[in-house]
Amino acid sequence: MRKQIVAGNWKMNNDLSQTQMLLKELKSKMLPEEVRIMVAPAYTNLYQAYETLRDHKVEVIAQNMHQSDKGAFTGEVSAAMLRSVGVKTVILGHSERRAYFNEDNSVLSEKVNTALENEMEIIFCFGEELTDRKAGNHYDVVKKQLEEGLFHISEENWKHVILAYEPVWAIGTGETATPEQAQQMHHFIRETLSENYTKKIADSVSILYGGSVKPDNAREIFSKPDVDGGLIGGAALDSESFMEIINAFE
Ligand code: PGA
Repeated sequence: MRKQIVAGNWKMNNDLSQTQMLLKELKSKMLPEEVRIMVAPAYTNLYQAYETLRDHKVEVIAQNMHQSDKGAFTGEVSAAMLRSVGVKTVILGHSERRAYFNEDNSVLSEKVNTALENEMEIIFCFGEELTDRKAGNHYDVVKKQLEEGLFHISEENWKHVILAYEPVWAIGTGETATPEQAQQMHHFIRETLSENYTKKIADSVSILYGGSVKPDNAREIFSKPDVDGGLIGGAALDSESFMEIINAFE
């Protein structure tokens, strides 16, 4: 079901005590009932984060996972391992994973399957590079990422998927897509979903925007009809700015 969502992707920031401190600050705040709030700490801090937030509305999610169930994959973490520490949602396909760890659409489609087999919810990230946008290819690039990474799933499984459109040129750069650019792409994503699946699915999937969302631009971005919230990097590392973003829905 379509929902307002704000998810903080902490990336490789915050050790155990910093994680605990930030979670304690979030726990002390009044949080809006209607917004789903998630945080993605580093693997090493997931279990303690889960324990700290047990029965609290802020959900602990993971930044990534491996596509295999288990085995000789040094340094990797499986879906079952995440499930065993209370994590039920995983971010897949973040542009940093695609760019620095060679995750292509084919690997991502395997990760999607593994997550679903393990009854996990997925935040599936995708988005074009600056060169794609300059060349006017951004719609084609996004469509291909969705078709090759995600559109093999059954209609039934869409209830376990949240989409996150993150134009690469806007991530960590301070440069945001304009609210209109975000709206245009989100609308295109719903049309593409409608063509490949059904209008009902297109209307029920939550689509987040990510890329330099800050307290001073969140309200306008979130006010767009096809934007259901945000995946937040830098601004999620400070409880005050994260709270302002959480409270930026009209
Ligand atoms: P940013 O990161 O908010 O720091 O641009 C967003 C993301 O990578 O999800």
